[in-house]
Amino acid sequence: MNDPNGMVFHAGEYHLFYQYNPYGNTWGPMHWGHAISPDMVHWENFPIALFPDRHGAMFSGSAVVDQNNTSGLGTEGNPAMVALFTYHDAIAESAGRKDFQAQGMAYSLDKGRTWVKFAGNPVLPNPGIQDFRDPKVSWFEPQKKWIMTLAVSDHVSFYSSKDLKTWTHESDFGEQWGGHGGVWECPDLIEMPVEGEGTKKTVLVVSLNPGGPNGGSGTQYFVGHFDGHAFTLDREFQKRLAITPSAQRMGSAFDPFSDVQWKASGNAFAAEAALRPPLSIRSSKDIPDATGVLRSRPFKIEKRNINFQIGGGRYPGIAGMQLLVDDVVVRTETGRNNDLAEHPVTVNWDVSAWIGKSATLEIVDGVGGDWGYTEVSDIRFSDKPASIKPVIAAWLDYGTDNYAGVSWAGVPRSDGRTLMVGWMNNWEYAQKLPTEGWRGAMTLPRELKLSRGKQGLELISVPVKELQVLRAERVELASGPIGEPIELLDQLNARSSGQFELNIDVDLRGTKALDLVLSSKAGEKTTFRIDRSSGQYKLDRSLSGVTKFSHPFNAIQTAPMADAGKKISLQIFVDRSSIEIFVDGGRTVFTSLLFPTAVYDSAVLSADGETTLLSAQAYELRSIWE
Ligand code: FRU
Repeated sequence: MNDPNGMVFHAGEYHLFYQYNPYGNTWGPMHWGHAISPDMVHWENFPIALFPDRHGAMFSGSAVVDQNNTSGLGTEGNPAMVALFTYHDAIAESAGRKDFQAQGMAYSLDKGRTWVKFAGNPVLPNPGIQDFRDPKVSWFEPQKKWIMTLAVSDHVSFYSSKDLKTWTHESDFGEQWGGHGGVWECPDLIEMPVEGEGTKKTVLVVSLNPGGPNGGSGTQYFVGHFDGHAFTLDREFQKRLAITPSAQRMGSAFDPFSDVQWKASGNAFAAEAALRPPLSIRSSKDIPDATGVLRSRPFKIEKRNINFQIGGGRYPGIAGMQLLVDDVVVRTETGRNNDLAEHPVTVNWDVSAWIGKSATLEIVDGVGGDWGYTEVSDIRFSDKPASIKPVIAAWLDYGTDNYAGVSWAGVPRSDGRTLMVGWMNNWEYAQKLPTEGWRGAMTLPRELKLSRGKQGLELISVPVKELQVLRAERVELASGPIGEPIELLDQLNARSSGQFELNIDVDLRGTKALDLVLSSKAGEKTTFRIDRSSGQYKLDRSLSGVTKFSHPFNAIQTAPMADAGKKISLQIFVDRSSIEIFVDGGRTVFTSLLFPTAVYDSAVLSADGETTLLSAQAYELRSIWE
């Protein structure tokens, strides 16, 4: 499975549809799988809800209950459940067409058990745009209309409709804002109260792949206002974001270099994505001795400097850009374990020695038997060295494995919560996870809240309270100074099940670093560190178990410490193949996959510097299938 789809609450049931390939455990022809739950914790699997048809496969989308029967598809007494999804026409795609994604509709009159495709599909045809998908539909009460938020390459587009069947374009948002290291996907537009302030704001959630905070897929958000036509950023929130440098935007004009064409050669894949900025090239360990080159046509050096930004290249091997003058390599620059979108490294080459000579640029990825990639953008010729600000985005989750999450529609007003699950995975290695018979899972369900913290408005995530029903045995640990390392699982049965929850409150005033180390009998370990000297949280899964299936999987995940405060709280869920860490009441979250070969049966807390444990509880968690 991949993305959660069509999440809707109706008649006492939470529906979770999802991207599903019934024919294998890698991505393939997409169907909508289906599961139903009374509490978001215990799930029952249902038959496949939506199958591909002559318009294409079933890509991601959403569902709503048409309470006022605006579509005429239901009745007042039995409103239709309506799903809006993306048709992906793989035949049109392989024929080289651009318009292979369009939005379709289906409806159910029996609480989501059986579905009928709308006869007038597609309801929103493709206007000639390659990435045009993942409709999330919500009701906009002030103007009594439906709003569809759609991911369109490097921005979102808003469409409106009175009846769910005909859609009118309203506006676009995002080309200039937030992370643009990859394509925008799976957006969500959510109106939310600001905690404790009696005001409401609109939050726009957007998935991004690649370009996430710790590589690969990630989920960013924007806080602002939606007036039924357009989304505008909240002024204060806007200050936290940098404007995206223009040439870093996908699909934008590559002006300073417009007359130099690039040609791909070698056996790297994804050179196909390379001929528009940011120029990028990837290779795969599936291709022996993969080497890919993007070569510019020759040009004459006329200015003193070549400035550019580089990212990627974080795996062993050569990955970078080089300058050749008269066919001799005179300059090279490799990526430095960074993502172009988030941490671009700005490079300046003084080329004054070769003014008047003929040169070529090569973007190379030859990683000698492992994964790798190089991305380059903003190549400019100038007489001055360059300096470019990095893009700053707000991230829902700093862990590598929370993608494509959207909120449940139809949650009763009396409940009022914003509830979400994400796909616990990352496209960087999703197809290679060391699992058999299944692949892909969802995150724990979370409640999202908009809260004003030291950084201004922040979207925080906490595990839903319903999860407490899973708590079995509880152990309360003694508070006091942390001298010797403390085993938190000592008296728990969870040691054999590998399923537990930890709640820890610590006074950090004298702390340099606090470590929580999970380990297994097989000697595997995962470390979460609060590193006050660097002001970062760090999650290290490089020794966590099976990791070699992917190089990026081994990288240390980091997040800035939101507040180098005195007290810190951690709520941590550990399952057989995952850890979900909620720091400071969900201000910072790490969701991460782990594949230990034996269950984690130890959780040890240790501190460098004077540190006090204020309170700690450990719970064994029951299986949701019991
Ligand atoms: C996100 C995504 C969506 C698309 C779906 C296809 O993970 O790429 O944009 O609809 O997966 O399975």
